[in-house]
Amino acid sequence: MEDYIQEILISREEIESHVAEIGRQISRDYKDKDPIFIGVLKGCFIFMADLMRHVTVDCSMDFMAVTSYQGTTSTGAVRITKDLSENIENRHIILVEDILDSGVTLNYLKNYLSVRKPASIAVATLMDKPARRKAEIYADYSCFEVPDAFVVGYGLDYNERYRNLPYIGILKPEIYE
Ligand code: IMP
Ligand code: MG
Repeated sequence: MEDYIQEILISREEIESHVAEIGRQISRDYKDKDPIFIGVLKGCFIFMADLMRHVTVDCSMDFMAVTSYQGTTSTGAVRITKDLSENIENRHIILVEDILDSGVTLNYLKNYLSVRKPASIAVATLMDKPARRKAEIYADYSCFEVPDAFVVGYGLDYNERYRNLPYIGILKPEIYE
């Protein structure tokens, strides 16, 4: 194990099997619906790539990028830095996130996208950290529920690092100091 990791929370094998299961569920639920996967960059990139390889129905994909600022209020504010290039009117959207934490980002994106009149919007997340939820938002598909710890790997970063780890790990506290 890498020396900056305190504990492997989710192994590569566990990730593989849960992501495959979500892919099968989505394939059943979206038969003949031609869904569009919308990944929220950058954290989604590995999860989305693996997930889509387990989807067996016709589908397409696009990406958005956001930055969240922690404002003076407890909700924070979200700014879109890359918008969609596809038209989503009457499309079935599956928003793909690495982790659902406060829920502020996805709640904002759901509202933002609903204005463009999609047929439906669902949320698929690799991890759900319900302990820190501030916005009323739930995942339709979630691979893992995780405790209130800062996790990295499999796309998730701390200061843009550790995204390349093939597992989900908890960082050693001294890395933050
Ligand atoms: P939310 O708006 O609070 O739900 O923020 C979600 C975003 O915060 C995720 O897409 C991640 O980029 C980031 N994030 C939240 N928790 C973690 C974590 O434990 N590790 C790495 N990034 C995290
Ligand atoms: Mg991030």
